[in-house]
Amino acid sequence: MNVFGYTVNGTQCSRLVFGAWAIGGAFTGKVDDKESLNTLAFAFENGISFFDTAPVYGNGHSEWLLGQFAQNKRTKIFIATKGGISWKTHSSGQRVMEPYGSSKNLKRELEASLRRLNTDYIDLYQLHWPDPKTDIAETFETLTQFQTEGSIRFIGVSNFALSQLKQAKKYAEIIALQNQYNLLSREVETELLPFIEQEDMYFLSYGSLAYGIFTGKFYPSYPFAENDWRKTGISPTNNYFIPSNFEHHLKQVNQLKVLAEELHCSPAQLAIAWLLRHPRIYPLVGAKTIGQIKDNIQALQVNVTSEIEKELDHVFT
Ligand SMILES: NC(=O)c1ccc[n+]([C@@H]2O[C@H](COP(=O)([O-])OP(=O)(O)OC[C@H]3O[C@@H](n4cnc5c(N)ncnc54)[C@H](OP(=O)(O)O)[C@@H]3O)[C@@H](O)[C@H]2O)c1
Repeated sequence: MNVFGYTVNGTQCSRLVFGAWAIGGAFTGKVDDKESLNTLAFAFENGISFFDTAPVYGNGHSEWLLGQFAQNKRTKIFIATKGGISWKTHSSGQRVMEPYGSSKNLKRELEASLRRLNTDYIDLYQLHWPDPKTDIAETFETLTQFQTEGSIRFIGVSNFALSQLKQAKKYAEIIALQNQYNLLSREVETELLPFIEQEDMYFLSYGSLAYGIFTGKFYPSYPFAENDWRKTGISPTNNYFIPSNFEHHLKQVNQLKVLAEELHCSPAQLAIAWLLRHPRIYPLVGAKTIGQIKDNIQALQVNVTSEIEKELDHVFT
């Protein structure tokens, strides 16, 4: 089934996906809701029709903002959200997120997402993380049930390894995988991307800008806000912001800037355009301001030559 890139019931899916993690406000410093809504509106007016969010992006706040923005244009946008995570309080008192793909939890989460998003269907519903504690059949049969009932249109997964994806596909028709992929993290190239191609699926890359590193705006000892995860660099998916790695990546970005100048584009645009070379990749890109999304959208005009591609491989691998 070919879905992305086609008009689906009047909904055109743009190649560039607006990643709504940052506007949830919980993980990457302060955001202003009015500015976030203006940024979403600017993205839409300039051709972005695909939006990715999740309940855990600001404890529902990102979904709520998208719901506000989507009023009067629901049939013109494609909304991807996620489920399958719960908050647990450890004995130390610390609240942590844990994968939880039980049928009961997914039903509860889907209902809450539909309410916040102000809609009666989700276009793409993704299991946020694999849950080794729940029977995979229970998780994916539940998602298929949602699809049959019409509350979700398509099923996706996120942060899955190849073996987990193959298992899940036994119980549901999965059309998309959302994993981290960018110039710094190339693991998906060996097995997952060839599998996506072979299975006629789509790939949503997250961290497409390495969480801002490829914009070229950072410098050593950059003053990240206290509530910004990049301040400590602690993340389940990467260690880009651990001080010694961060300084190395800043040097790589200096070379990215030189290559971008050759193509008359910004380094962020080059990093996104590099992902767009692959027709099955839909890059997720976060933005907090109109200026940022305006810069990122221009990536669609950048043509990465094979010479620049080789240079990028040389710098980043
Ligand atoms: N499935 C998962 O587990 C998972 C995990 C992570 C992300 N995601 C998804 O992937 C999306 C993209 O990832 P991401 O948002 O974390 O990271 P990203 O796209 O690599 O970086 C986005 C951040 O970089 C900065 N930025 C973006 N464009 C800029 C520009 N032109 N100039 C200057 N700064 C710019 C902004 O933050 P500052 O202004 O604060 O620097 C923005 O929030 C997320 O929004 C989310 O939808 C999914």
